Amino acid sequence: MHPWASRLANIQPFHVMALLGRARAMEAAGRDIIHLEVGEPDFPTPAPVVAAGQAALARGDTFYTPSMGLPALREAIAGWYRVRFGVEVQPGQVVVTPGASGALLLALGLVADPGKRVLLADPGYPCNRHFLTVLGAAARMVPVDAASGFQLSAADIGRAWNADTVAALVATPSNPTGGVMSPAELAALAAAVRPRGHLLVDEIYQGLNFDAPPCTALAVEPDAIVLNSFSKFFGMTGWRIGWLVAPPSAEAELAKLAQNLYIAAPTVAQHAALAAFHPDTLAELELRRQEYARRRDFLLPALEAIGFVVPVRPQGAFYIYADVSRFTADSYRFCEELLAQEGVAITPGIDFGERDAARYVRFACTTGIPRLEEAVRRIARFVGRPG
Ligand SMILES: Cc1ncc(COP(=O)(O)O)c(C=O)c1O
Repeated sequence: MHPWASRLANIQPFHVMALLGRARAMEAAGRDIIHLEVGEPDFPTPAPVVAAGQAALARGDTFYTPSMGLPALREAIAGWYRVRFGVEVQPGQVVVTPGASGALLLALGLVADPGKRVLLADPGYPCNRHFLTVLGAAARMVPVDAASGFQLSAADIGRAWNADTVAALVATPSNPTGGVMSPAELAALAAAVRPRGHLLVDEIYQGLNFDAPPCTALAVEPDAIVLNSFSKFFGMTGWRIGWLVAPPSAEAELAKLAQNLYIAAPTVAQHAALAAFHPDTLAELELRRQEYARRRDFLLPALEAIGFVVPVRPQGAFYIYADVSRFTADSYRFCEELLAQEGVAITPGIDFGERDAARYVRFACTTGIPRLEEAVRRIARFVGRPG
């Protein structure tokens, strides 16, 4: 067999998949597993969205759409920025993509030539650096800690940017920490990046904000490249649909990339997403947001009470990033043993980078409070402090 491409050696799998495989095998053998490792909403797609998708199928709307997306959806997304954030976005600036994943690939393809670097926070969403590897570019991982809310700061930009750097990418709310950058922090970051290169902001968890209304980087930096998705807040992970907002000058370049990389986002999903901004959908999503807030408000103090240290209070998304160094020097083993002994699945820090990865684990509040209560009972037993 001829060898596969050598760049693959630089692409890591999700370590949590090995744990998930074990969890599934344990479930098949009859064990009750509590899944706190899954980074996707446990709620189904809202009914109006499903109905819009079914109607599209029934009409036979199964052909390619334009590469940049259905004009009506591009308009609806632009309108969402106007209504929700008071920000003017032209429909021509919006590209409908296969999830935020497709948007990340477009955005990084837009800014990063081979050999160039993009600054990323470590810890952060792991796929970003692998997208860069596929493009022949590379990540410059910038270690971040609780002092900056685990986010890139203006000072980091000054320190880490060099001649090869073309962009910085942040996510707010963040995976794995749930940390949220304030408009002032975003503005300071944008001011540091503006004279140097491009600012990319992943707003996929936008809407899942608990302590302050959601904001968009476009409000403080109209030239930012912002990506988003219908996956998380809108509950559409499996439909594979998201979007990108970029400055008007990028439209023709993005069209070339979209045409060549995937032709267009899934047609049925695009029609379904048109119903995502419907008032009935938004009312349902608000109830879900409140439920995620209740889960955080239960799980965060419950974990702290049994000895977990959470240096940054999650203000959004559905994650809690906890320091387990009081219990172990190896958070991956901690996850393995917690799963084996108590049937609770969580994600080890190693999946989000190298910085202090062995100290941290991520909990996802993607199951209801009764299951979270049971999880806390089991975890307390595991760490030797029954509640
Ligand atoms: C920070 C972040 N960005 C992007 C994605 C990709 O999401 P999707 O392609 O489903 O929109 C995820 C998924 O977990 C994520 O956590």
